Amino acid sequence: MSVRDEERWNEKYAKREPPSNVEPDEWLVEALQLIETACGKTEPGQRALDVACGLGHNAIWVAQRNWCSDAVDISTNGLDLARQSATANDVDVRWIQADLDDWIPASGEYDLVVVFRFLDRDTVPRVVRSALRPGGWLVYETFSAAQCSRSDNHLSNPAFTLAPGEVRTLFPDFQVVVDREDVLHDRTVQRFLGRRQSDG
Ligand SMILES: C[S@@+](CC[C@H](N)C(=O)[O-])C[C@H]1O[C@@H](n2cnc3c(N)ncnc32)[C@H](O)[C@@H]1O
Repeated sequence: MSVRDEERWNEKYAKREPPSNVEPDEWLVEALQLIETACGKTEPGQRALDVACGLGHNAIWVAQRNWCSDAVDISTNGLDLARQSATANDVDVRWIQADLDDWIPASGEYDLVVVFRFLDRDTVPRVVRSALRPGGWLVYETFSAAQCSRSDNHLSNPAFTLAPGEVRTLFPDFQVVVDREDVLHDRTVQRFLGRRQSDG
């Protein structure tokens, strides 16, 4: 199945140019403000991981804020564009080409994991839980089930949407800071900010 994912996404990204303007997702900006309110300003050198990073806009933005930024995706074409975009923005991101179905991140190494517009109910919890250190943060956004009843809906498969309150069931051991549905002008999403509980 992931070979097909790789081909499909490579085909999509083959038609794209590197983004000239790197804007983060608004939920990432808001969530980082909440994290800084809870913990104080983040120290340079803290480590972030963008899971299924696509063209890497969020990983690049995080790197611009002095995080050590890693980003993983299956698509070599997407990662090539992301790399060009990082170079144009003069930041370092470690781009990792991997199939999340069988990728094991460095254990407990990350202070922050971000996931946008990607849902696999087995893979995402496994990767996030393995990557985050105890006390680390998860910022997650993807389409809500309500997206499918919008007149401008473009999603063909409702299995790739989240029910309200579902994210917390995927991360039952996380402290929930935000878990809400937002209806935006172009999409309806579930937004989650949670903190992995400290061990012991
Ligand atoms: C809808 S895009 C979202 C990209 C980015 N997070 C964003 O919000 O713009 C989904 C991404 O998941 C990646 N992907 C799909 N299946 C994957 C897999 N098995 N392993 C790693 N990445 C995968 C695709 O290459 C694509 O970049």
